[in-house]
Amino acid sequence: MKVAVVGATGLVGSEILTVLAERNFPVTELIPVASERSKGKEIEFKGKKYKVVTPAEAIALQPDVALFSAGGGTSTEYAPQFAEAGITVVDNSSAWRMDPTKKLVVPEVNGEVLSKEDKIIANPNCSTIQMVVVLQPLHAKYKIKRVVVSTYQSVTGTGVKAVNQLMDERAGKDGEKAYPYQIDLNVIPHIDVFQDNGYTKEEMKMIQETNKIMGDDSIRVTATTVRIPVMGGHSEAVNIEFENDFDLAQVRQLLAEQEGVIVVDDPANLQYPMPKDAHGKDEVLVGRIRRDESQDKTLNLWVVADNLRKGAATNAVQIAELLLKKRLI
Ligand code: A2P
Repeated sequence: MKVAVVGATGLVGSEILTVLAERNFPVTELIPVASERSKGKEIEFKGKKYKVVTPAEAIALQPDVALFSAGGGTSTEYAPQFAEAGITVVDNSSAWRMDPTKKLVVPEVNGEVLSKEDKIIANPNCSTIQMVVVLQPLHAKYKIKRVVVSTYQSVTGTGVKAVNQLMDERAGKDGEKAYPYQIDLNVIPHIDVFQDNGYTKEEMKMIQETNKIMGDDSIRVTATTVRIPVMGGHSEAVNIEFENDFDLAQVRQLLAEQEGVIVVDDPANLQYPMPKDAHGKDEVLVGRIRRDESQDKTLNLWVVADNLRKGAATNAVQIAELLLKKRLI
């Protein structure tokens, strides 16, 4: 496979390179792609050096598949050009996610929707991915009526500039700011831009993308998304109301059996998921599994995952693996 990684010099792009190598994706030739600024820069992959090219140059090199993580603008402009040239695109930006003609895929949840006609496949929002992997087996068994989620999101989700802001603030240095406020020793209840309804775009992504991936618009979702001064991953407090009653032991078993999920839930031994433990892992960690005692048929969970891994790079590479398995690339 000739594989292009668009945004190869960025945080998610470099994680995609790591995941491609770790999972032994059959890369025969890597095409690292970034902006004009990075052209010619060398990127190492599996002991070999490759020169960064621009998106236009990458199209001419005819990769089999292109994994995009270079922002919405780059995806809007170039993904259709790649697709037009017969190159299948897995796009990590939000540009195509809610386009009704594009599939939005988390392989463990709705991998079966992929078909030969799909030339641009959207990778969901990081916070949505880790939540739906956990919701899926519970919805299948007990039917979800409503989800209330609050997130505690890592600065890595914003990109290099945000990581630098946190580190600069911690070192007492002045520097470029990714956020409108200090992030160190603070919590910012604002991710992406505000919408007319008072929600942020990140919150609306979690609501709309959950319905689309799970293929069920009857699931009611509400979200509050929050940035915290953490690096290893996103955490989520998820409250789920079901149509049918559940058994806690069975919930634990369903989650333990779900592909891509690890149950970390042993309060007596202080075992619960934390970003520092999720960091570098491909799996979604779930714990603090307990009944909501204020309401019938309702469950509380704590869900943590490395947002650069399952929330972005790993899920994109898993989509490429599935395309390969189904002989769609
Ligand atoms: P570059 O390093 O040349 O700016 P992050 O989100 O971590 O900041 O990374 C963004 C990624 O998207 C980088 O690899 C960046 O490349 C890339 N990128 C930004 N604008 C473009 C563009 N117009 N064409 C191709 N890649 C782009």
